[in-house]
Amino acid sequence: GDYELGGHPDFMAKEIAEQPEAAQRVLRGRLDERLGTARLDGLRLTARELRGIRRVKFLGCGSAYYAGQVGAGLVEELARVPADAEPAAEFRYRNPVVDPDCLYIAVSQSGETADTLATVEELQRKGGRVAGAVNVVGSAIARECDSGVFLHAGPEISVASTKAFTNMTLAFALLALTLGRVRDLSLGEGRRIARALAELPERIGQVLAEEDRIASLAGRFADAQHVFYLGRVRGWPVAREGAQKLKEISYVHAEAYQSSELKHGPLALVDAAMPSVVLIPDDELAVKNLGTIEQIRARGGPVVAVTTTGLAVPGAEEVVRVPTAGPELDPVLLTIPLQLLAYHTARKLGRDIDKPRNLAKSVTVE
Ligand code: AGP
Repeated sequence: GDYELGGHPDFMAKEIAEQPEAAQRVLRGRLDERLGTARLDGLRLTARELRGIRRVKFLGCGSAYYAGQVGAGLVEELARVPADAEPAAEFRYRNPVVDPDCLYIAVSQSGETADTLATVEELQRKGGRVAGAVNVVGSAIARECDSGVFLHAGPEISVASTKAFTNMTLAFALLALTLGRVRDLSLGEGRRIARALAELPERIGQVLAEEDRIASLAGRFADAQHVFYLGRVRGWPVAREGAQKLKEISYVHAEAYQSSELKHGPLALVDAAMPSVVLIPDDELAVKNLGTIEQIRARGGPVVAVTTTGLAVPGAEEVVRVPTAGPELDPVLLTIPLQLLAYHTARKLGRDIDKPRNLAKSVTVE
């Protein structure tokens, strides 16, 4: 009812708006700004055991998998430990090699996703070390894993995940920082990341303050048959999550692509009727991303650039600027405007936002 929605038109709007407080909860008590590190007691790993981890693998379905991909990037970047993400159902059915020196992370908002739960059981059967990254306390995956990190996003009702996704990425930033600081990450760099994380809830609030401006762009997508979401490296999992959100709630076909792969095929699809959302994190690839926009413009494709940089983006018809908290955390902040873009497109199209057709909040059967 109205009380539960707290004045918001639907749960997705409420859950998007709650992100600053939700982000604060996943960080609370876990950051040490003085020592430039984090503590995740629920992992039940000593410093020695943390140092013994040779690989990290994130497993989840849908958005939980994309959050894992953000996590893998953070772990490689901050800890220089090889990391990747894989859809849980793919992993469990390909008879994976289970590596005793790998930390497997089962990622799930609900903690009830059948494929993710079965993956945990298969890993345990084969002696893998698996920790949960779960939102719902007492859920099947939380119970099955004897260690992990709770996401503390609060109840997520809308089928489209928003605040749980954000808290997953923040939990993985904490993990990456923890792993980094028992290895080569310096005190100074650790402090910089810890401070950036502490400031992140406020930065998220600043992105949300741009909602009206982002909503004004939604018309472009509501009229489109197909939309590209393009990003590279830090921007790539963000592009995938952005495309997923648009498809899920607006039913507009969106395709995520690495911007670096564009000219190897998909550029053939670009024309005046196919808009592209191009992500530009504040990193050394920004200039390459501007080049991507030029390639699209040269074929008449409309571009909406979403960036944490202050760069002029001459080729873009629209530019959404988002504050940065340092390049490492840009994936977290760049995801927020894409949630809003999908949300307002779906509203323009009159969709049932909290309960999109054909989808369930948690997929508890295969
Ligand atoms: C997210 O918007 C989707 N509804 C979906 O991909 C979801 O993330 C996936 O089904 C996994 O759910 P879980 O996090 O509860 O395991």
